[in-house]
Order: sequence, then structure tokens, then C-alpha cells
Amino acid sequence: MKQVIAIYPGSFDPVTNGHLDLIQRGSQIFDELVVAILRNPEKNPLFSVPERIEMLQSLTSPWNNVRVDTFEGLLVDYARTVNARALLRGIRAISDYEYELQMALMNRKLNPDLETVFMMPHLSYSYVSSRLVKEIAQLGGSITGLVPKVVEERLLTKLNGKQT
Ligand code: PNS
Repeated sequence: MKQVIAIYPGSFDPVTNGHLDLIQRGSQIFDELVVAILRNPEKNPLFSVPERIEMLQSLTSPWNNVRVDTFEGLLVDYARTVNARALLRGIRAISDYEYELQMALMNRKLNPDLETVFMMPHLSYSYVSSRLVKEIAQLGGSITGLVPKVVEERLLTKLNGKQT
């Protein structure tokens, strides 16, 4: 039987508990799930690509059908190189929908054979985003429970290093 490979693309700067919830759900329905980090130097990320790879690799190690990779350029072109049939994206709230719909339809225009699959994270992560996590940590708020412990520690170390 044909194996269905899906890509879960994103910035993952940093990976949150919401991302991991989606990875877990995706790993249960796809034969192989490739977590693909966008290499975009223009975005000025907090964590370097190697740091994000390392964190994601260690956090996804419990799932043996999940692997971590990076890509640049068009997502549809990358999808062809890994023979992916599907793109996995998370929708937390209606506010995500408009942007996600536009991306999904554009990607379909670019490659009609690549299907976007939307999944909802657990309700308790519906308000979690990497951007807010960074902002809260930068302003001294607690991010416990929003990101894995290892990410929380690395975030605080990085921010403390910057403050000095
Ligand atoms: O985690 P993010 O930042 O919401 O992820 C956005 C991402 C990486 C999925 C999107 O920016 C993307 O696919 N970029 C690659 C370039 C591309 O294909 N652009 C056209 C999208 S229709």
C-alpha cells in the first residue's frame, strides 16, 4: 500500500506545546511526518536553524515516523523532493483561518496534487503561539506549560544572555 508522507512546515521559533500536540496528532494519521523548518534569513529568528533542529529532534524522538528537516524556497518544491502528498497545518481559532485558507489555496494552485490538511490542537493550546511566548518571556512573564521545559530553559538562558 502507498505510504502517505506529510510535511508539517513552519518557523518553530521556538517549538511550542501546541506544535508538539499537532505533531503527535499528525504522526497518528500519516505514515511519515516531516517537520520542516523554514530557513529564512530575512525573518531574524531568536533561535538559529541548528538550535531549532536540535530542539525539535530531541522532542520528536518518541515518534519513530517523525523526522526533522529544513527547507528554503517554495514549500511546494520542497514537497516534491520528499514525495509528500499532504501539508499539515494547525488552526487554533477563526483568526488563523483566513491566512491558512489563502496559503492552502495558493499551494493548491502551485501543485494540485498536494493536499493541505488542517488539524486543531488541544483546546488548552488554542491561544499559544511562538510570537507570544517570546514576548512574554522577554517581558519577564511565566511561559511554564506553554513550551516544553527544555525550550523554556533555553529561552530564558538566551534572553538573560541578551540582557547583560
Ligand atoms: O510557522 P509559520 O511562520 O506560520 O510558517 C509559515 C510557512 C513556513 C508555512 C510559510 O511561510 C511557507 O510555506 N513559506 C515557504 C515559502 C512559500 O512556499 N511561500 C508560498 C506560500 S503559499
